[in-house]
Amino acid sequence: MTNHTIRLILAAAILLSIAACTQNKPQAETNIIPHPNSIVFSTGHFSLADGVKVVANDAAKTGKNLIENYLSENGTKANDQSEQVIKLQLNTQLGKNEYTLEITKNEIAIRSGGNQGLKYGVQTLRQLLFEAQKTGNQIQCQAIQDAPTYEYRGMHLDVARHFMPVGFVMQYIDMMAILKMNYFHWHLVDDQGWRIEIKKYPKLTEVGAYRKETLIGHGAVKPFEYDGKPHGGYYTQEQIKEIVAYAADRGITIIPEIELPGHAQSAVAAYPELGCTGEQIDVWTRWGVSPYLYNLEESTFTFLENVFDEVVELFPGKYIHIGGDEAVKDQWKNSKKVQERMRELNVPNEEALQSYFISRIANYLRTKKRTIVGWDEILDGGAPENAVVTYWRSWHKPNPALEAARNGHKIIFSPASLCYFDHYQTLLQDSIEPPAIGGCTPVDSLYIKNPMTSDLPEDLRQHIWGAQGNVWTEYMPTPNHVEHMVMPRMAALAEVLWSKKEHQNFDDFKRRFRFFADWLEKNDINYAPYIFEQSAK
Ligand code: ACM
Repeated sequence: MTNHTIRLILAAAILLSIAACTQNKPQAETNIIPHPNSIVFSTGHFSLADGVKVVANDAAKTGKNLIENYLSENGTKANDQSEQVIKLQLNTQLGKNEYTLEITKNEIAIRSGGNQGLKYGVQTLRQLLFEAQKTGNQIQCQAIQDAPTYEYRGMHLDVARHFMPVGFVMQYIDMMAILKMNYFHWHLVDDQGWRIEIKKYPKLTEVGAYRKETLIGHGAVKPFEYDGKPHGGYYTQEQIKEIVAYAADRGITIIPEIELPGHAQSAVAAYPELGCTGEQIDVWTRWGVSPYLYNLEESTFTFLENVFDEVVELFPGKYIHIGGDEAVKDQWKNSKKVQERMRELNVPNEEALQSYFISRIANYLRTKKRTIVGWDEILDGGAPENAVVTYWRSWHKPNPALEAARNGHKIIFSPASLCYFDHYQTLLQDSIEPPAIGGCTPVDSLYIKNPMTSDLPEDLRQHIWGAQGNVWTEYMPTPNHVEHMVMPRMAALAEVLWSKKEHQNFDDFKRRFRFFADWLEKNDINYAPYIFEQSAK
């Protein structure tokens, strides 16, 4: 064949494929949330009609199992005889969190430089499988290249104010997984309940996990009224191990939070000798900031070290959140013993004493190869080296994120102004919404204002690890209510953390969320409908 003939044949082939494209125009937009970095659609479809063979080596076995589950959830069977193949492959040319997903007529290939990236690819495929079920059991041929923008994409859940059952915690993790979020900050301890079994201290759960009743109405409205119904519950160590493994299979690391030195009322109720007053108190029954703090006795540090010994055995991740927020120092100021201890330690004031307290715990956890994360109050009096700071006090001067960055800390952005998912979602507030703590963070405001558009100067932005949504459950007594508060805001946050700026467009997000809402409905997950209701703005 001459060069001329080859050129003619190529030109004819291109013309034919253009003709085929115009007859059978490939889909032009994706429904995937978060929006991938790059998608090139092509003609043709991968058919799921006769079942699919899933191929993976041992390292990617979890991904294979998940795909087989997702296939069956969407009406397709895994079938080892099928010519239609889905394969998972490690490929050292790609980054560990990066993946490609190539869909041709007979093959879907997910490739990544690491297992984490493969897991992200599996979740993208899961959304496509759900879509396929609605569009004739086939997936449009396409090539996706994708990787996260921010490394930390988190959600928090407070299970102390209201206990959430194991099944729901797993569902919450699964909601994060489909959105490719990767850190679950599990707020296991607070004044209103201690929710983690610690074998050495059984009263933490026998006593600390139960309160005798709960406040009715808003925490700021007096006189206080109570429902008269006991509330409580906790997670056994076996249940925690299952949840940790469930999360790991889905690419999610759990950061457990054990609050100190404040928000300690449930622990002090269980063991009064840990407190500053010695009185026998109850687990708290209302909302706000309780005055009960741990004391500074060596025996209290021994208690906390023993607690952390069990915590680190359950949670293999590198990070442990130690709280540090809202520790009102009145009890320390009023306790003779604490004041004496402060003098012995040569610590000048109570803020510095908090810093001492946090540093002791950070040093202990360092011996266990763990790094602490703390709310931004850990900066008061100086935070330990390497501590990660969860920035939440967006109103505070000086700005805690700026202070953390200047001191070289890695920062998780969770400004109350945008990342508190216990806030109302519309300007009409409780005339159309269930009662919430206050504030107002509609999904479009979160998406467009975007917590990552921080005012940190350019040279300090490298300290931003990522962001998380916080879900404090004072006013969310049920899983159904939590779902209403987190969706669609969780999806919006996932997208601003994962996707490139050029793919962030709220109207397009809203279009894709309509599709995602179908997935939520199919899975019996509640969401707030206000995103689709103009009147709510
Ligand atoms: C917080 O909202 N107290 C961290």
